[in-house]
Amino acid sequence: MFRLLPLSTFVLLTQTLASPLSHTSSKPLPLLIWHGLGDNYAADGLHTVGDLAIKTNPGTYVHYISLDDDPNGDSRATFLGNVTEQIEQVCQTINTHDILSKAPAFNALGFSQGGQFLRGLVQRCGDRVKVRNLVTFGSQHNGIAKYQICKDDDWVCKAYVGLLKANTWSAWVQGHLVPAQYFKATNDSTGAPTDEYLENSNFLADINNERMLKNVTYAKHLASLDNLVLYLFEDDTTVIPKESGWFAYTNGTDGEVTPLREREIYKEDWIGLKKLDEKGGLHFETTEGGHMALSDEVLTDVFSKYFSEKSGSWGGVDGIEEEGMEL
Ligand SMILES: *[C@@H]1O[C@H](CO)[C@@H](O)[C@H](O)[C@H]1NC(C)=O
Ligand SMILES: *[C@@H]1O[C@H](CO)[C@@H](O)[C@H](O)[C@H]1NC(C)=O
Ligand SMILES: *[C@@H]1O[C@H](CO)[C@@H](O)[C@H](O)[C@H]1NC(C)=O
Ligand SMILES: *[C@@H]1O[C@H](CO)[C@@H](O)[C@H](O)[C@H]1NC(C)=O
Repeated sequence: MFRLLPLSTFVLLTQTLASPLSHTSSKPLPLLIWHGLGDNYAADGLHTVGDLAIKTNPGTYVHYISLDDDPNGDSRATFLGNVTEQIEQVCQTINTHDILSKAPAFNALGFSQGGQFLRGLVQRCGDRVKVRNLVTFGSQHNGIAKYQICKDDDWVCKAYVGLLKANTWSAWVQGHLVPAQYFKATNDSTGAPTDEYLENSNFLADINNERMLKNVTYAKHLASLDNLVLYLFEDDTTVIPKESGWFAYTNGTDGEVTPLREREIYKEDWIGLKKLDEKGGLHFETTEGGHMALSDEVLTDVFSKYFSEKSGSWGGVDGIEEEGMEL
């Protein structure tokens, strides 16, 4: 019978039938955003990004990850703390959150160090917090070789860095100063990580499964992402080396870059990146400018490609549109 109807009538009919349903029961997955060093969850710049995510994919519930309700405390926690404990805290916060605990899965966006910490959340907490798509901008997935991480005018940051430079591998520094936990020392004549790094690194050596004993759960969780999107800033001079954002190794002596696919971590698939790549879920992207020079165009493109309803949806929680609104 339908076949006799003109096409336009049919289109009209299906639209009428579908719209009430899609209106009430389908929203894009909540978006987790983890900010970078020195920043805080309440910062205007960060919320501009979240607002753009909502504008691109209406109905998205955006959660700004924080380690302290006080924005100053949250900012302090980007320098001070044990990353293992911080990731566990974030995992528990999401699990016990009024709204987030009801979501079947999430998308995630990490800026700078927030990117490798979200990856840590996926690998360690993947049973409790399911992430579908993780996008990182200017992150330090293969660590940093130099502490050149502070903004020029950030004297607090510079003071901490002075302290940690002096004693990177001490247990106190590894347990308390955040950037030290993703500092990586490599012997550039062999390309191998140093013994000091392997023995003492509190976060990176573990999360990258660089030690003899590999945690297979890490690889299972990371490979179960739909997409891992790694953005690198073309002219990044803050992250040394910037190719860390692509899990590449850069020879500190001659600047030669060994891409991820030629490295052991990939070839032996220590953390699931090869498996993810083979199913088409690993993406290497570049964007213009220096560290964190984000453009609205790039962000909008990322949001519509990876964080729309097509990437997963849920019913949402009635009456809740934005972070901070009461149930
Ligand atoms: C591997 O990681 C998972 C997730 O963090 C953890 O539960 C487990 O204890 C770890 N296994 C080993 C052998 O460390
Ligand atoms: C960091 O915290 C974890 C969990 O509490 C602990 O096992 C580990 O020893 C701490 N790391 C350092 C270097 O203190
Ligand atoms: C780097 O490795 C080479 C070759 O094994 C070794 O001779 C050299 O002492 C190492 N350098 C450092 C700083 O450990
Ligand atoms: C790093 O560069 C130096 C200088 O070109 C070279 O001698 C060394 O073999 C390189 N290291 C690796 C791991 O390729």
